[in-house]
This record gives sequence, structure tokens and C-alpha cells, in this order.
Amino acid sequence: MEQKIVILDFGSQTTQLIARRIRELNTFCEILPYNKFPDNTEGIIGVVLSGSPLSVYDADSFHIDFNKIAGHFPLLGICYGAQLTAQTYGGKVEACPTREYGRAALSQLEGTDPLLKDIPLNSQVWMSHGDTITALPNGFHCIASTESVRYAAFRSDNEAVWGVQFHPEVFHSIHGSLLLKNFVVDICGSQQQWSPSAFVEETVAELRATLQDDHVILGLSGGVDSTVAAVLLHKAIGQNLTCIFVDHGMLRKNEFTRVLADYQTLGLNVIGVDASAKFFADLKGVTEPEAKRKIIGRDFIEVFETEAHKISNVKWLAQGTIYPDRIESLNITGKVIKSHHNVGGLPERMNLKLCEPLKWLFKDEVRRVGRELNIPKSLIGRHPFPGPGLAVRILGDITPEKVAMLQEADDIFISNMQAWALPDNKTLYDEVWQAGAILLPVNSVGVMGDERTYEKAVALRAVTSTDAMTADWAHLPYEFLAKVSNEIINQVKGINRVCYDISSKPPSTIEWE
Ligand code: XMP
Repeated sequence: MEQKIVILDFGSQTTQLIARRIRELNTFCEILPYNKFPDNTEGIIGVVLSGSPLSVYDADSFHIDFNKIAGHFPLLGICYGAQLTAQTYGGKVEACPTREYGRAALSQLEGTDPLLKDIPLNSQVWMSHGDTITALPNGFHCIASTESVRYAAFRSDNEAVWGVQFHPEVFHSIHGSLLLKNFVVDICGSQQQWSPSAFVEETVAELRATLQDDHVILGLSGGVDSTVAAVLLHKAIGQNLTCIFVDHGMLRKNEFTRVLADYQTLGLNVIGVDASAKFFADLKGVTEPEAKRKIIGRDFIEVFETEAHKISNVKWLAQGTIYPDRIESLNITGKVIKSHHNVGGLPERMNLKLCEPLKWLFKDEVRRVGRELNIPKSLIGRHPFPGPGLAVRILGDITPEKVAMLQEADDIFISNMQAWALPDNKTLYDEVWQAGAILLPVNSVGVMGDERTYEKAVALRAVTSTDAMTADWAHLPYEFLAKVSNEIINQVKGINRVCYDISSKPPSTIEWE
């Protein structure tokens, strides 16, 4: 049985980061809502309690049954998790006069504690809390303090229970990963066997056992997740997997043929369907962003379903759903941050079972698995691209002419990015999370030669991010922007102006629609 750490989530924004840090230690971990600690504890080697936007003394604060955990598994409470631990064992938690937010230094350390092994005095930690522990419970002692927080870290004298007021999972806690390693590896005894190759081996074996001789269909999008899911399934069940790649007419320039060829080289059994005429007809005159998305989603399902019905004996629908998609929809605070965009509703309509082989992975892990499967860089290094494609990058109504214009501008932007060399054999494209051009619904006056022009404007968007939940606009070199702008205006007929989008997410989003 695979070892795992359970992270009980109290709604902190950094819960996912705790999971990533633990995965970086090649240890499997799972985020569960705070009130869903499983009865079947097989494989669990330790438990982490996350932070929370709430106070432990709020009437509606979240509580757990410590009897199920403490004494059975090593326990580490972080921020709210630490306060809850202290309060439950009889300590005191009170509101700070001022909320403490930002950097602090561990000015006192009990160096012999295994949680703090090799962490130097004055190590920088990141604090973000409105409450503080003012008295530890009996049977607990302090193991680290900062200037303003007496009980920055503490532990039980008798049980394997620790609490830290700061956030070891964030980048600004300089030795935070080391602290988590001390907990996960030394204290919980992780053998650090979670790796892309182990994942591939186990998943392929599991898929074979579950699917046996069943036929599976999968919708390919050209993106990383569906590609890796397809190759993994192909490795497990070979030609019993049929992939369907729908061209809705709003892909990037030459993308349909290029990606289809890549898939065929990988040996996948792919049906490419050019349904662009249907999508263009149904989108004609539609300008409202949500209406466009709905039409595209509906048409996609119709086309996919028609193709799928041509394949006999299909029992499963596979999807490239990844872990963050599911965590977002499981978020205990009940807020949906981004709706999850796979072939919604299809499994029920077609009476198919759902197969999601990547459902435990983060995006960077999907890429590592992709490399392990020898998927070419042209497929796994690709930027994310929205399901509705250029339709959400053409503001206003969509016509084949506008798509063609935007495809040209986008191609100039992206191919220049791929050609812009940086040190270490990288290009600007590798440094950016995602980029694209947006066709704006305005005309402006320009002059070309001696002629007055009155043509369209495009905006260029490039962002850096780790998960698309937050993003910053990429600080692209001016020389690069100048080159791209020149080429677009000189080469793309109908465009006489180029702007660069300098908005971050939040409050903007990555896509304009
Ligand atoms: P936003 O615009 O919400 O985008 O900041 C976040 C990430 O999601 C992608 N995106 C989509 N992907 N179908 C998709 O498959 C969609 O409808 C869709 N909308 C946005 C976007 O490209 C970015 O990576």
C-alpha cells in the first residue's frame, strides 16, 4: 500500500501549496475537507492541518476529532491548524491587537527538536495570522519563537504532535521545505517513492486491471493534460483506446493538422473531425461571451457524441482532469473559482463510466509524467489554451475572416516567442505560462505609406503563473514587443495597431472573455 500524508483542509489559500511541497518530497499526499478524515486509514503515515480564514473561537469555526488522529499518526498543525491544536488540548488562543502579516525571523530555537533539524537561528518565516496562541496547553513546550510571536512552534511532550504558527509551505519561509521534509521523511517515515516513473508503472497496472478488454474514448484537445492521459491509456490498453480530436475552427494557425500528425506519430488511434462549419454557423452574430461558450460547449458535445456512437462497444469516457480542477470544485468554503471545462454531462448521457488517470496530479507533475512517457516537447511544453479557443479571444461576433486574421497575428507572436533565445537553451516561450493575441472590436486610424487606414487593433497577452489561479503580466523585453508589433502590422492585413496587456489576475483574468 502506498504511503500517504493526509492534509485536512480548513479553507486556507495555501493548502494546495502544502500538497505541492510534500509531492516535491516524492511523497504522495491527499487534501481532504477537514471533516472527512477517512475511516480506512491504510497507508496514512502522517497528518497535516492547514490554515484557515476563520478564528478558532468563531461560532462557525471548523473542528475535528483529534482522538482519531493524535496518538495514531504524527500530526503537524499549520497556523489555524496549530491554534486549533493548542486550543483543543487546553491552551489559549486570542486575537492579536494587530494582524501579523509578512516576514519574521526565528529568533529562538530549540535545536534538538526533530522538526527543526538543520534549521538555522534567525531563519526567515512567513506569518499571516490575526490570532495568536497566548498559553500552551499542559504537556506542550515551545520549540521556536520570533520577536513578536512567543509560540511560533511548539510540540507535545508525550505525543507526536507539533504546531507552527507560520506557513512553512510558502516560498518566503526560507527553510519551510526543510521543515516539511523533517516532518514527512524523518518523523512520518516517508520512503519518498512517489515519482513520475512509479506513477506511470502503478497507473498503467491499475488501468489494465480496471479496464480489462473494455473500449475507451477520449477527447483530445491538443493540450498537455488530455495528451498525457491518452498516452498513459494507450500504454495500458493500446488500440482499445480511441481518441477524438474535434476542430471547431477556432484553433491556432495550422494547429489541427500539426497536432493530429504528432498524435499519429505517438501511435494513438485518433479520429480527427473538422466540424468548423457547424460551429461558425451556430456562432454567427453571437457576441455575448457566455453565450459563445455555451454554444461551443453544446456543439462540441454533439459532435463528440456523434463520433463516439460510431465506435462500437464503448464503456468508458476518459478525461485529462487534474488535481487542481477537483480541489477547486471540492473547495470547502463553497466558492467556485473557475468552472471545470471538460465534456460535461456526457458520461451520464451516453451511459459511460468515467476514467480520469491524472486526477491526483498537479500540472507540473503531468508534465514530468509526460516526459517520462517520452512525449515530445512540442506537445508537453505547450502553453495552456482554452477549450473554446480563439472564440474567447475575438471580442464581439466571430467570423472565419476574423479568425484567420487573429491566427496570423497570434502565430507571429508565438513563433517569435519560440525563437527568442535565452540562456540555458531556453526561449521566451518556456519562461511564459501562456500567451496569445486578442482581436479587439475597435477600429482606429493609422497611416501606411501615404494612405489613411481605419483598421482593427490586437492586444497581446502573456502571463507568468504556476497554476492559472493567479497570474502576473510577463515583463517581455521591449525589443521583442517592438519586433512582434512591426511584423503584425506589416504582415497581417486589417490590423494597424498592437497593444500589450499589463493587467494581473486578479483582478483581471487571463482570457479576455
Ligand atoms: P482565466 O481567463 O479564467 O483562465 O483566468 C484561467 C485558465 O483557464 C483557461 N481557460 C479555459 N480552458 N476552457 C478551457 O479548457 C475554457 O472555457 C477556459 N476558459 C479559460 C485559460 O486559458 C487559462 O489557462
